[in-house]
Amino acid sequence: MSDVRARPHAIGSPLDRIDGAQKVTGTATYAFEWPVEHAVYLHPLQSTIAAGRITAVDTEAAEAEPGVLAVLTHLNAPSLTRPDDPELAVLQTDEVAWRGQFTGAVVAETLEAARAAAGLVRFAYAPREHDVVLRADRDDLQKPVHAAVFGMEAGELQDGSPADSMLGDVARALDSAQVRLDATYATPMYHNNPMEPHTAVVSWDDGALTVYCSTQGSSFSRTLIAGVLGLPPERVRVISPHVGGGFGSKVFPHSYAVLAAMAARTVRRPVKFALTRQQMFALVGYRPASIQRIRLGADGDGHLTAVSHEVAEQTAKAKGYADQVAVCTRMMYAAPNRRTTHRLAPLDIPVPTIMRAPGEGQGMFALESAMDEMALACGMDPVEFRIRNEPEVHPESGLPFSSRHLVACLREGARRAGWERRDPTPRARRDGRWLLGSGVAASTYPSPRLPGSSASIGVTPDGHHRVLIAAADLGTGAWTALTQIAADALEVPVEQVEVRIGDTALPPASVAGFSSGISSWGSAICAAAMRLREVLESDHGGTVPAQGLEVTADMPANPDEDRYAMHSFGAQFAEVRVDQDTGEVRVARLLGMFDVGRVINPKTVRSQLIGGMTQGMSMALYEHSVLDPRFGHVVNHDFAQYHIAANADVHAVEAHWVHERDPHTNAMGAKGAGEVGIVGTAAAIANAVYHATGIRVRELPITLDKLL
Ligand code: MOS
Repeated sequence: MSDVRARPHAIGSPLDRIDGAQKVTGTATYAFEWPVEHAVYLHPLQSTIAAGRITAVDTEAAEAEPGVLAVLTHLNAPSLTRPDDPELAVLQTDEVAWRGQFTGAVVAETLEAARAAAGLVRFAYAPREHDVVLRADRDDLQKPVHAAVFGMEAGELQDGSPADSMLGDVARALDSAQVRLDATYATPMYHNNPMEPHTAVVSWDDGALTVYCSTQGSSFSRTLIAGVLGLPPERVRVISPHVGGGFGSKVFPHSYAVLAAMAARTVRRPVKFALTRQQMFALVGYRPASIQRIRLGADGDGHLTAVSHEVAEQTAKAKGYADQVAVCTRMMYAAPNRRTTHRLAPLDIPVPTIMRAPGEGQGMFALESAMDEMALACGMDPVEFRIRNEPEVHPESGLPFSSRHLVACLREGARRAGWERRDPTPRARRDGRWLLGSGVAASTYPSPRLPGSSASIGVTPDGHHRVLIAAADLGTGAWTALTQIAADALEVPVEQVEVRIGDTALPPASVAGFSSGISSWGSAICAAAMRLREVLESDHGGTVPAQGLEVTADMPANPDEDRYAMHSFGAQFAEVRVDQDTGEVRVARLLGMFDVGRVINPKTVRSQLIGGMTQGMSMALYEHSVLDPRFGHVVNHDFAQYHIAANADVHAVEAHWVHERDPHTNAMGAKGAGEVGIVGTAAAIANAVYHATGIRVRELPITLDKLL
């Protein structure tokens, strides 16, 4: 790959966010705030059973309320084109597939009128017995069937991977191993919970639809929304320049946007719809729960001889979805015998989705907890045990890694964390009634590029460059990083570059997901910048013509993607204090050492990494969506009951990185930094809790009852 030219070095500088001032002064326009004339409001109706059929609907009282314009149910809703994504088929049948599913909508002149009238609609149901409990011993666990809709390779897991993998003879290797581990780990449902709820403001104009919505991918949303409404994509415009977080829940468009579009078509007015926090727990996805059995075998020198990772995870009957929970185990450590499997329990529950580091988030909790247990069983230091099992190439595909500095992360992280002073004996250190412990875990996440991005760059004679690409910045700093990439690619200062994102009127872009954004969009921008320089030289003698000049380029192919395995890495060190009487856990320090390739902006990358680590700590200790088996819904569906790490829970969190560019991933030498930060944090904390207390918690979250 050709490099971005080295001067004038916008890349690598800690540029403040270009949208920062707008955000902190409240002038950044979020989806619900877009001014539209004569807007009306939507309040949804949701099923109160988890499975069954609607047998009768009474909307009369609601329709008679002042200000009510329409009450939509499956009886009068417009027909949709059969969507690729069944989650989007809203109000098309009388079937109820989960509790909280949309059964209708009230549209009224005011939000209050819509909400009040919604309370007057009556549904009668014929319920079926529902089934919402994930257990590893269910006899109906099934292999996933998943059609990828990202243009990524179709596969059985949501990242396009096959459900199972097999190398050598695991059973025999386990039988003959000198040291063996067989342990089962579990992770609960987690909800993404971005600060900005999911919202849509939709209007129809002459058969064309405009959607202001909070999304991680305006182009992708347009494709799916147009598909389900039976429109050509060019008749739909999705606008989303500012996004208040998403953590994956805003990658796939969800049914609320379709419901709002239906309602707007019915009442012939623009419709505004913002989900409440409680509604979000049933309607915009979550990280599915998992039960993971890991078996490891090792020889007397601490070399792994067998690795087996079997996953059972929950999914929705309404839409098959399978996180790639054990895929991390296919590439992390060397071992000649290896087996990974994924099986699903299809349940009467809401549709899951990707949540920050989907798959690796759960899988590396189990694998890195197991690696800690196995290091102890082998009588080895957990850092050295990982280093001893470092593979030279991807253990399953045999491909070399484009770059893999995990050992450097482990060693440098250990040095910074003061690991050599650690007494490995559990429950050996205390400070008054606090038991003290430290733990380590590795991190990894793939660093892919997704297809489908193009960029345009226009330049005026006074040297102003305008870069257009329908990318998304959900708070990550991507907008700023793209400005830096463009500036270096164009060899101009950042002040001469204006980047526009978040609008399908711009050249298309892949989603802000899978830690692929900067790699994908940045590649397209570099290609457009190169093209601009070429056209300027060849057709204009190097001088911008009076009317300006604009070029467009697609993200170029990267043949190295077939030749190398591309992943980000990290090593995380946690120090915990556990109250010996109450079991309360405090994370006194988290230190992460990462390998994310070349860092475009150290300020925003650091934020991404410490944000991921903080979310990982929250996953370890606090977050837990509690599904009530009697009714099939998540009962702790608000911030009073769904606990997320708050400022007082977060003490020292440090993120550092090795300064190594990746020679193969993309023109910038960057790797993904959005997700790797959350991966492994929960295991590092669980391992530290074991070191502090001698108690191994294999089921997240690590609540105090598990330590007493
Ligand atoms: Mo990330 S869960 O792919 O937005």
